[in-house]
Amino acid sequence: MSLGTAVVTGASSGIGMATARRLSAEGFEVVVGARREQRLNALADELGARAIRLDVTDPASVQRFCAAVPDCRVVVNAAGGAIGRDRVEDSTDDDWLWMYETNVIGALRMTRALLPALEATGDGHVVMVGSIAGYEPYVGGGGYNAAKFAVRAMTKVLRMELLGRPIRVTEIAPGLVKTEFSVVRFRGDEHAAEAVYEGLTPLTAEDVAECIAFAVTRPSHVNIDTLVVLARDQSGAATVHRR
Ligand SMILES: NC(=O)c1ccc[n+]([C@@H]2O[C@H](COP(=O)([O-])OP(=O)(O)OC[C@H]3O[C@@H](n4cnc5c(N)ncnc54)[C@H](OP(=O)(O)O)[C@@H]3O)[C@@H](O)[C@H]2O)c1
Repeated sequence: MSLGTAVVTGASSGIGMATARRLSAEGFEVVVGARREQRLNALADELGARAIRLDVTDPASVQRFCAAVPDCRVVVNAAGGAIGRDRVEDSTDDDWLWMYETNVIGALRMTRALLPALEATGDGHVVMVGSIAGYEPYVGGGGYNAAKFAVRAMTKVLRMELLGRPIRVTEIAPGLVKTEFSVVRFRGDEHAAEAVYEGLTPLTAEDVAECIAFAVTRPSHVNIDTLVVLARDQSGAATVHRR
């Protein structure tokens, strides 16, 4: 039996891709979005899902995507990431804007556009992929911290504003997850990206997908508000154990 339609953004890689796979296995009809269409189409073929190109920083793209999904029970806002590890004094407007537009405004746009469809199902669910960076600042994290703190604030406000309506709101906030996240953050420098996970066992994208699947498969009166999930080798945003 179908559990309804689940939209997953950022599904061309990492947490979004693992979540699309997991929700498809759970019985959702999955619609995947991201900018890299080849990857999306391969995933859609694998899952029997629908792929629609999506750039969450482009209002017209979001509008086109959401208009193609008139029935939507779950949206997982996984599109996002970080650029750079610069100190605030050395950071650039462009990097901060990228992070804010993708993580914050992108998730806002998608959620706002899909809310009527989510509500119409009588059991809608908004999942935001936040981060431990939205809870704990760290040196060199300024722009990403600001963006993920904003995601957390928006998620809490949304939860309050939707109280009494049939839409659940969940923030999943992971720590270190080995995906393409660090390659993007270090602008393609694979060496710098590898060093982030050196000597420790990070979370996998599947670990996070499992948390998301747990949240969206609870009975409809149960709202998992926040789930912070870290590797055993990480006790805080900047506190890790390396062997
Ligand atoms: N990995 C971690 O350690 C970690 C920890 C905490 C939170 N997170 C969060 O988890 C989420 C997923 O990250 P990840 O670790 O899976 O990284 P990832 O492997 O780099 O995946 C990021 C995804 O976001 C998509 N994306 C980026 N910009 C987009 C845009 N403008 N429009 C649509 N899609 C866009 C990318 O697809 P395209 O490039 O094809 O568009 C890709 O599918 C992000 O919000 C990230 O901040 C990650």
